[in-house]
Amino acid sequence: MKICSTIAEARAACRDTRTYRQRLGLVPTMGALHEGHMSLVRAAKAQCDAITVSIFVNPTQFSPNEDLSKYPRHFDRDYRLLEEENVDILFAPAVQEIYPNGTATWVQVEGLSEKLDGRSRPSHFRGVTTIVAKLFHILEPDAAFFGQKDAAQLAVIRRMVQDLNFPIEIVACPIVRESDGLAMSSRNAYLNLDERGRALVLRRSLEQVQREFQGGERTAAKLISAAKKVFACEPQVALDYFEIVDPYTLDPVEGISQETLVAVAAYVGSTRLIDNIVLNP
Ligand code: PAJ
Repeated sequence: MKICSTIAEARAACRDTRTYRQRLGLVPTMGALHEGHMSLVRAAKAQCDAITVSIFVNPTQFSPNEDLSKYPRHFDRDYRLLEEENVDILFAPAVQEIYPNGTATWVQVEGLSEKLDGRSRPSHFRGVTTIVAKLFHILEPDAAFFGQKDAAQLAVIRRMVQDLNFPIEIVACPIVRESDGLAMSSRNAYLNLDERGRALVLRRSLEQVQREFQGGERTAAKLISAAKKVFACEPQVALDYFEIVDPYTLDPVEGISQETLVAVAAYVGSTRLIDNIVLNP
């Protein structure tokens, strides 16, 4: 695996790879890799001739009161995991390399960036789309792999790719869960034992909605109210949002007549967790 820490090296390595292999895949990450990330790496490996993984804890997507400085960083472990999967190129730049003069130019997907997580994390998606656009320009992949776990992020990135005509296929990969159903996340490491147990309420609320949907319920308001009852049994977990929306526009729907995203975010202690399911009548 070739490690690149500068933009020039990474661009040259990716271009070089593309001249003798056809399809280059990119998996953008912030490191602290877990099986969720590795599932994207394996999907990219299976669908591409060569793959690049980026590890960059992107400061512009954290707001001043968020966890940038304590975000988990395990570079040596991440490196070993990626090497075991035969990743071709690892791009791991320093903040100074990516934002030598801060940034005056932003990529912002208007509207979508203010929905779901964007409502409680203003400017978060602007940071995400700016770094992902930069990675796309630097590494020039043919396909980029993202997790369904961050469903709003996926919608925002898809819209950016469409609006800015990036010649890049966006591939969505299913959520990978712990054995008890908790969606894997680098932020799960913040949970103490007690919070780890309480965190399962996110999954339980989605399962309740799934059950009612399978039982024939199609009215979004009724499904949301069933989910909120599940949260009421876990009062120490603070619900941020529970929404039933179109997966592409993130606009709320009244009834479920086509593919629909059911998304939840909640604070378990000071840790904000998200999860979702897709319902398909
Ligand atoms: P990060 O949180 O490290 O996630 C990197 C990728 O892994 C994202 O596409 C995310 O959706 C996916 N992922 C995380 N947990 C997952 C799980 N349990 N199952 C499946 N996929 C999962 O998302 C980011 O980083 C950043 O915002 C980034 C896109 C890299 C831009 O900085």
